[in-house]
Amino acid sequence: KDPLRARLEKMEKQAELGGGADRIAKQHEAGKLTARERIDLLLDPGSFCELDKFVTHRSSEFGMGDKKIPGDGVVTGYGTVEGRKIFVFAQDFTVFGGSLSGAYAQKICKIMDLATRVGAPVIGLNDSGGARIQEGVESLAGYADIFVRNTLASGVVPQISLIMGPCAGGAVYSPAITDFIMMVKDTSYMFITGPDVIKTVTHEEVSKEALGGAVTHNQKSGVAHFAAENEQAAIVMTRELLSFLPSNNQEEAPVQPCEDDPFRAEESLKTIVPSNPNKPYDIKEVIKAVVDDKHFFEVQEHFAKNIVIGFARMNGRSVGVVANQPAVLAGVLDIDASIKAARFVRFCDCFNIPLVTLVDVPGFLPGTDQEWGGIITHGAKLLYAYAEATVPKVTVITRKAYGGAYDVMASKHIRADMNFAWPTAEIAVMGPEGAVNIIFRNELLKAKDAAAERTRLTAEYREKFATPFKAAELGYIDEIIRPEETRAKLIRALELLKDKRQENLPRKHGNIPL
Ligand code: COA
Repeated sequence: KDPLRARLEKMEKQAELGGGADRIAKQHEAGKLTARERIDLLLDPGSFCELDKFVTHRSSEFGMGDKKIPGDGVVTGYGTVEGRKIFVFAQDFTVFGGSLSGAYAQKICKIMDLATRVGAPVIGLNDSGGARIQEGVESLAGYADIFVRNTLASGVVPQISLIMGPCAGGAVYSPAITDFIMMVKDTSYMFITGPDVIKTVTHEEVSKEALGGAVTHNQKSGVAHFAAENEQAAIVMTRELLSFLPSNNQEEAPVQPCEDDPFRAEESLKTIVPSNPNKPYDIKEVIKAVVDDKHFFEVQEHFAKNIVIGFARMNGRSVGVVANQPAVLAGVLDIDASIKAARFVRFCDCFNIPLVTLVDVPGFLPGTDQEWGGIITHGAKLLYAYAEATVPKVTVITRKAYGGAYDVMASKHIRADMNFAWPTAEIAVMGPEGAVNIIFRNELLKAKDAAAERTRLTAEYREKFATPFKAAELGYIDEIIRPEETRAKLIRALELLKDKRQENLPRKHGNIPL
């Protein structure tokens, strides 16, 4: 046998074994897949082309000189998902705990550079003990090289991070800059400082899971966008997420054949808004009723549930949906909801995904928590994001659109292209009760039967102002539509706007209130 071929085969086998059979078994025992198994699940079968398989670290300190494993703890390369180019790196916990060396960082940087050059998404599969301690500052420099690439690739190619094991310390900042973070329940965690450090500094006792597990970051902090039951589920969700996205900022998202009648009338919407304006209903029912095949791919499902965001298709084309959720906190905007929706709006704008906004918002959440927490700044993020977005923007007001929140939620005034309202829409500075209390304060004080007078005035106000007619009269609403025809109207509007041209003035970058 050709000795060079034999040598190559031997080296390949060694690289593929990573940290060895024992460590692979340990990885499986921990309920985790190996880096290569994850890549195989993510990419189309047989499509993976590995790069830098024989790269090793360059360190000789602390006995590292004779500990070299080809690949050095990260598997990198490219392949396809549903036939579309994708770059991937998978950290291999079986090799030095997946810790990051200078050489390892260079491998990741190489595929990131290629990805931006050819315009394809980067998927990072994270499972690492952090900076390789034996390498010291060289490893920290490696992280920074990755962070700067994450930053420069932001808005150029989609970047998705899957957290499938530890991700701690400085390592968290690469996923944090990417567009979406998906965490696996029970086996992944992210934090800046771990439970031991926290105990020393603040005397708090907290488990790794409670501090930075999938549920914590999906419900409490909003750091993560998805929580998967297991690694397989995380990968299936990632493949689906990719199906809604273009490969880069100069492309459109792929169009899928649509079997669902674009002009399908949805009778269920006729009665979905309760006649009592204070009664909740589930806005997700409305979303599902209007999108293709009733299929809605929700993002950040567990965080700030008073606003709903996610992807869907309308006549086969990707759209980003933003909707107030009257079933949670009456659909008010608060700090978390504003931040959640603002980042999503900006993502869609970066990647040419039209925005469909459903509005039922009674205003901003009152309270010292909100004011002292900076609702002014955070609410402005959403306003700013919508106002600067140049993708097609289509809005439907289903019920309430009160006060400043009316302006914020993709109103005509901040450059939405097509604004619809259902007949049940109430577009006003505030709800009828509040309005009557303020503008008729003196009359109510003088009235013999204040309660009866308040009821009469409220009814009168509701009749006059809590309707879409005034806004339609002013041209702020382009059309009052019947709820059952919402799907057809949205699709017609999106078709119309398909080749929308709008550019903001050249500038280095705006200064969004962060
Ligand atoms: N640098 C170098 N080697 C590391 C490492 C790091 N940052 N993190 C883990 N390893 C090595 C371990 O020394 C161990 O090697 P060994 O099996 O030859 O002894 C191997 O990876 C597996 O780690 P282990 O600690 O046995 O796994 P675990 O599942 O019990 O714990 C961690 C995982 C991540 C919690 C733990 O390894 C850890 O705390 N690592 C250090 C984290 C850190 O402080 N990183 C620097 C901050 S950026």
